[in-house]
Amino acid sequence: MAEQQTLQEHNIPQHVAVIMDGNGRWAKQRRLQRMFGHRNGVDAVRAIAEAAAEQGVKYLTLYAFSTENWARPKIEVNALMSLLVDAIDKEEVTLNRNNIKFTTIGDAPALPQKVQSKLKNIIRSTAKNTGMTLVIALSYSGRWDITTAVRQMCRDAEQGKLSAADVDEALLASYLSTSGMPDPDLFIRTGGDLRVSNFLIWQIAYSELYFTPVLWPDFGKQHFAEAIKEFQKRERRFGRVTEE
Ligand code: FPP
Repeated sequence: MAEQQTLQEHNIPQHVAVIMDGNGRWAKQRRLQRMFGHRNGVDAVRAIAEAAAEQGVKYLTLYAFSTENWARPKIEVNALMSLLVDAIDKEEVTLNRNNIKFTTIGDAPALPQKVQSKLKNIIRSTAKNTGMTLVIALSYSGRWDITTAVRQMCRDAEQGKLSAADVDEALLASYLSTSGMPDPDLFIRTGGDLRVSNFLIWQIAYSELYFTPVLWPDFGKQHFAEAIKEFQKRERRFGRVTEE
């Protein structure tokens, strides 16, 4: 709490994106199955969503399931999907009580039918909320996002709605799954690896990167406050020089 009070209120990142890594290792350290790590990871999701909303973050995007994660053993994929369904059931009331809008990015049609229908319901039920937007990336990858955008642009071009001269960065961004959202100001990865792993690769062009060895289930409000504090020390130049 003392840590949180030292944060500069005028310099809170508008959009924070997080790679929640380390659930498997957290479980292994305790000689438990990987799923225990994911289950405890859900508690960390709740804590960080709460912390972000309290700090005034406008968008929190969490990488819950990557395109590459489909290659994990079927039993783990199924368990992750059930965990997601349970979390949606449990958290819907809390999201609405806290004025949080829920949305997803990623290849939704690739998800099991039950997950798709749960997601549709919660997106609808929180659509009018005006506080923080919680974005869950599911069956998502940055290259998938860009490829899907370019495919749709080509379709629009074929139909005469678009020509090559219209294409600029803003237009391409408007075709991405994050259209309408600001780019992440702060990108956090837990679990010790120093990679961006195909997450929001277009959108993080100028994000501040923050890596921590803390495993996701251990990542709490205090760690989140530390990440914001570190962000507030950074000088963001966006390729320009500092003014004298
Ligand atoms: C990475 O840990 C974590 C995931 C692939 C899944 C994250 C999912 C959750 C936290 C739960 C569901 C999410 C929501 C939004 C309710 P890992 O398995 O790669 O860990 P490791 O690197 O230690 O093996």
